[in-house]
Amino acid sequence: MTDRAAIVTGASSGIGLEVTRLLAGEGHAVTMVARRPEKLRAACEQLLAEGWEVGHVAADVGVEHDVKRVVAAHRDAYGRLDVLVNNAGVGIGSSIGELDTKGMDIQLATNLRAIPLFYREALPMLRSAGAEHRNALVINTASIAGKQGQPWLSIYSATKFAVVGFTQAMNRELLTQGIKSTTLCPGFVDTPMTDFLKDSMPAEKMIQTSDIVAAVRMLLSLTPGCVIPEILFELSER
Ligand SMILES: NC(=O)c1ccc[n+]([C@@H]2O[C@H](COP(=O)([O-])OP(=O)(O)OC[C@H]3O[C@@H](n4cnc5c(N)ncnc54)[C@H](OP(=O)(O)O)[C@@H]3O)[C@@H](O)[C@H]2O)c1
Repeated sequence: MTDRAAIVTGASSGIGLEVTRLLAGEGHAVTMVARRPEKLRAACEQLLAEGWEVGHVAADVGVEHDVKRVVAAHRDAYGRLDVLVNNAGVGIGSSIGELDTKGMDIQLATNLRAIPLFYREALPMLRSAGAEHRNALVINTASIAGKQGQPWLSIYSATKFAVVGFTQAMNRELLTQGIKSTTLCPGFVDTPMTDFLKDSMPAEKMIQTSDIVAAVRMLLSLTPGCVIPEILFELSER
């Protein structure tokens, strides 16, 4: 049985892929999760070729049954969970007058509803890890849009504000069990999610996935007595 294990959602691309590589390099067996099976398999094979212990489960985190299936598959494979990274997310822009109900529901389900479901399903394994080393960690990827309301991205913003608040609640509820939670709140990160912007903002002026990885590496190195509830990543030039 592995010494440390993690689940990363949205692991086939961008932030999730690089955080998976970090966790694997730091000795975690990682279950990678995303919807599109081919893209996910390719990302997983890339990390396997680098020598890391990773597996993959294709799933839509907005579907309760899928969340249960991911956590069960991870438990069967590794039997423990030290780090849960709730990172899958989508942003669908529109003015409030043109709000599309389906687009709103996808964002609510993916960015927000999935996170409490993952906590609930993973809680027995997180509790065991917390009892063992007092350093179980849940990382929830919100956004700077979860700290400052964004026009034309209002639903995205609302879901990310909710992630910030939910994470605060989780710390008040679970820290005594050795389970820490941290929200990541980045501005624009150079990933496929921001490709649509790159004509007006060069990728090199954005936050890099290596910056997010550096912060997660720091979170992994904290002693049991220290929790960092939230990290803001701002653009140095706007
Ligand atoms: N890039 C930014 O500027 C930025 C800034 C602040 C916050 N964030 C947040 O950072 C997180 C990661 O974004 P990214 O920039 O790395 O984007 P990305 O490169 O587009 O990656 C998104 C990942 O999430 C997966 N995903 C999307 N919907 C899913 C669902 N319903 N179920 C399972 N997996 C799903 C995608 O794979 P499939 O499509 O195959 O499912 C992909 O693996 C998101 O929560 C995003 O809101 C990004």
